[in-house]
Amino acid sequence: MAKRYLTSNQGAPVTDDQHSLTVGERGPILLEDTVFLEKIAHFDRERIPERVLHAKGAGAFGFFVPYKSMSALTKAEFLQNPEKKTPVFVRFSLAGGSLGGADTVRDIRGFSVKFYTDEGNYDIVGNHIPVFPIRDPLQFPDLVHALKPDPVTNVRGGPIAASRFWDFMSLRPESMNFLTYLFSDVGTVKSYRTMQGFGVNTYKWINLCGEEVYIKYHWQPCAGVEYIDSKTAVRLAGSDPDIAQRDLFDSIAEGHTVEYEMCVQILKVEDECKLPFDPLDSTHIWPEDMFPLLPVGRMVLNKNPGNFFVDVEQSAFAPAAVVPGIGFSNDRILQGRIFPYGDTQRYRIGVNYLQLPTNMPRRSIDNKMQDGAMQTIYSEGVANYLPNTIGGGMPAEAPETGKPVCNFVSGIIDRKEPSGDDYYQARYRYRNMSPKEKDHLIANFTEALSQVYEPIKRRMLEHFMRTDKELGSRIAQSLNMTM
Ligand code: HEM
Repeated sequence: MAKRYLTSNQGAPVTDDQHSLTVGERGPILLEDTVFLEKIAHFDRERIPERVLHAKGAGAFGFFVPYKSMSALTKAEFLQNPEKKTPVFVRFSLAGGSLGGADTVRDIRGFSVKFYTDEGNYDIVGNHIPVFPIRDPLQFPDLVHALKPDPVTNVRGGPIAASRFWDFMSLRPESMNFLTYLFSDVGTVKSYRTMQGFGVNTYKWINLCGEEVYIKYHWQPCAGVEYIDSKTAVRLAGSDPDIAQRDLFDSIAEGHTVEYEMCVQILKVEDECKLPFDPLDSTHIWPEDMFPLLPVGRMVLNKNPGNFFVDVEQSAFAPAAVVPGIGFSNDRILQGRIFPYGDTQRYRIGVNYLQLPTNMPRRSIDNKMQDGAMQTIYSEGVANYLPNTIGGGMPAEAPETGKPVCNFVSGIIDRKEPSGDDYYQARYRYRNMSPKEKDHLIANFTEALSQVYEPIKRRMLEHFMRTDKELGSRIAQSLNMTM
């Protein structure tokens, strides 16, 4: 192997990297010790702020191939040709847990996929639970505050932390459907290889003729779906806290692929108001007997990150990263997600975060945005504005691919609570559980509520009763409470 010599970050040779420059053997270190200053100053800045949520994650690279052309439904370039592999990067994460948290704790898992398409990056930023606890994004910071540690003690366990979480949930009964997932075995995950993923929000697919359909994304793990019970989760959190991250890395390092099938559910735009529920309400699923899953393609993960910080920690996913053929619905939660991801990433990583290798689109970028910290793109020529004649008018606006969509929107500007039935899907889900699943759900709810302040517990019991009398009575009985 060719010998390599140590250099500073400026490229200068470093002859001694182990001993500071001191006056005599026991004297002070000199300010002119540039080797020490650079090494320590760089070390001081090794951490970037952790994500405000979904802080702990694991990632892998791979590719996506559609089974057949989806051109009838979408003009998205990466869904046209079954011969074409689109590179992807995926990050799985824990929503509430901080960096260093245990992988198996009860939590929402993130399932984020970045497609490096020829038309730019397309991100599907999803979760492993198909529904969301709230209907309005204005409540999102409160939801996250209630999930995160107590602001006084910074503690996550104990009666105060539990009461904070249930306090919020009991005041937002639309969370009932979500809670029946989180507190079933779905809430405890040992392996990302056997975990489902959901886009949760409703997106639009748009074809070349400008025709739109609503869609919901599903990721089905090819290794089968498997979750663990709470006892196993607690044990593993102590003995192997990084189990899901290690399991993903080791499987790929051993030469196995990790695979998921992408499916979509489809709803015609003209049927939006004909259903017994609001299909754009992200606290609801679209029942699969009404909206069967259409298999779209296969995602294969086959390459581990080379460096965790560079590839995973600095990765940045955003629901706003869409390509032609994909659009947003008026799902209020989705609308609320279009701005904040890029905004936090400009703060968390830096304004030029899209120039980092893991985030960089695989096609060339050409526009007149410039400068900012850590800029690496040379914008050539004096015409750093548009329109221009000095630069030949370049870059020209891209031609429209296909017929444009013209949507008409009207309404009174107001702040309104979105309407919806808070209980019926939770009721349906509970009634269709096996006896073992019901036992686990009730045991998990009971354990979580046992430490909670009395009035909050009582409020939750009312919601359980409204969901299903049997569910409410069994939880009341396990908590030794009367209704
Ligand atoms: C109003 C609703 C929401 C808001 C305001 C919001 C905001 C955020 C923010 C600010 C981050 C941190 C991003 C970063 O630092 O890179 C984040 C991460 C994330 N969010 Fe949301 N979120 C919302 C709802 C959702 C929903 C409905 C889902 C699932 C469908 C979701 C899935 C995720 C995932 C998976 C990540 C981690 C992305 C990664 O792997 O880096 N979020 N969210």
